[in-house]
Amino acid sequence: MQMIDTDFIVIGSGVAGLRAAIELAKKGNVLIATKDAPKESSTEYAQGGVAVALSDEDEVGIHFEDTIKAGDGLCREAAVKKLVEEGPERILELIEWGAEFDKEGTKLDFTLEGAHSRRRVLHAHGDSTGRELERVLTAKVSHIKNIKSLPFCLALDLIVEDNVCKGAYLLKGRELLVVTSAATVIATGGAGQVFSRTTNPAVTTGDGVAIAYRAGALLEDMEFIQFHPTALYAPSAPQFLLSEAIRGEGGLLRNIHRDTFMQDYHPDRELASRDIVSRAIMSEMVKTESNHVYLDMTHLDAAYIKKRFPRIYTTCLRYDIDITKEMVPVSPAAHYMMGGIKTDLDGAASLKGLFAAGEVSCTGVHGANRLASNSLLEGLVYGYRAGSVAAGTSNQQIKSIPDYRLDHVTSAEAGKIEEIRSLVRRVMWEKTGIIRCEKSLNEAIAKLSNYLPYTRKRFDERSAVELSNMLTAAMLITCAALKRKGSVGAHYRSDFKAQGEGWNSHISIHRDMDMMPDMYRRE
Ligand code: FAD
Ligand code: SIN
Repeated sequence: MQMIDTDFIVIGSGVAGLRAAIELAKKGNVLIATKDAPKESSTEYAQGGVAVALSDEDEVGIHFEDTIKAGDGLCREAAVKKLVEEGPERILELIEWGAEFDKEGTKLDFTLEGAHSRRRVLHAHGDSTGRELERVLTAKVSHIKNIKSLPFCLALDLIVEDNVCKGAYLLKGRELLVVTSAATVIATGGAGQVFSRTTNPAVTTGDGVAIAYRAGALLEDMEFIQFHPTALYAPSAPQFLLSEAIRGEGGLLRNIHRDTFMQDYHPDRELASRDIVSRAIMSEMVKTESNHVYLDMTHLDAAYIKKRFPRIYTTCLRYDIDITKEMVPVSPAAHYMMGGIKTDLDGAASLKGLFAAGEVSCTGVHGANRLASNSLLEGLVYGYRAGSVAAGTSNQQIKSIPDYRLDHVTSAEAGKIEEIRSLVRRVMWEKTGIIRCEKSLNEAIAKLSNYLPYTRKRFDERSAVELSNMLTAAMLITCAALKRKGSVGAHYRSDFKAQGEGWNSHISIHRDMDMMPDMYRRE
């Protein structure tokens, strides 16, 4: 066991964690712990862009309205206001630090995505916007002397004393690191891996929500999972995202009979909000007894498509699909977690000393459904806000460090981990996916419950820790989905198609609530 004392610890090195670290470093020493290579994150794979009201035809107030509308009545207006008002400053600062967004002549080029009433999405290198943000922020952090990175260092749990967060337990290889800090910022991203179809990278196993839940922090809106309509559907290919910006540039959806269908579902057709497009695709798949539909770009200028979407073009070509000449088989996949660790407008969680930023947090910005390309912006704005306020946290003396005994993963457990992981992911996709009902949700809970003993152990190996966290996140999502008896935003109940009574209140979850099964008790 190694003891480390620092002023601040940030868990995660995507857009939110890096942006928070830059502010924290103005007031003390910062450790950034990342469970994988530093750049491995959803941020690195973000394609379409970052939404910001900077174009001549746009206004902060219109960006606000579009975000509120997409959130379907459950956004926290004050949080959205901060996002859209502070967004331009965070983007201009990023440009000053070297970010190169695509231009049309000398002016920034803005694209269109679903549910945006203006062209307001900045993009970089065509479809590699997240990679550009990650590049610039990583470079900025590397020049700040009092930030130290700990790659391949997995956060296990928080150190909590008298309801105050005083640091975190980390795992490096098989060694336990006990890090004490004045403030801890969780920026671990989402939980897409909990579903068998997802656009998210392997690191998104819901660790942050599980860690915060075990520590006794409040979570909110966990039932709201956004499913992206268009992930590649090809037998031997990964579930690669085909950006919504493709539809923004004129791409069409067709069923397996080659017929367009979005005109039958919504006046905004291909650019309706993601929940509507995803459910329309599911409905066409059922009607045509097929497991995919097509995304068609063949009518668009081939040279433009290659230039505008170079990463998508080359990735599909690797799987023998030339997107300029043939239609691409696609189907929806889990993409984004709207809920998470409940925070105030400064990223403070319900536990003193604990902050959260980015996809793992629930600032209230996204409500029941996130407006496309608002999450990179949220990472910048709320990473900055959380970092600035957390930097003012004074050092809390720790009386004694609670004993933290690691459970060695037995060979029997090791052999079963992949099997259970795959089962959890399938159960979540089939029972807690795009369309849910009481029966399917209860079936999910029954199946997940068989593996609850895994949530009660402190494993000493990454895949076992991730499985434990995935089970926790899966249960949190499913129990919240069961509790919300109505359909709002991305949460659709086939047995309660209307919004239902009390639809505009939020579902909060705490570990001591009756609605949760008895899991995670480790003492
Ligand atoms: P991430 O970028 O996911 O970073 C999380 C970090 O936490 C990683 O470094 C990870 O390794 C680390 N971590 C996780 N668990 C632990 C642990 N236990 N211990 C230590 N470290 C841990 N949004 C947009 O706004 N525009 C887009 O165009 C867009 N396109 C997208 C395309 C794809 C394919 C995907 C998957 C998402 C896209 N999104 C987009 C969503 C957006 O990318 C994410 O919501 C956002 O990048 C999340 O940033 P983050 O900093 O919160 O988390
Ligand atoms: C996309 O490019 O379609 C993803 C955008 C987002 O998730 O915000």
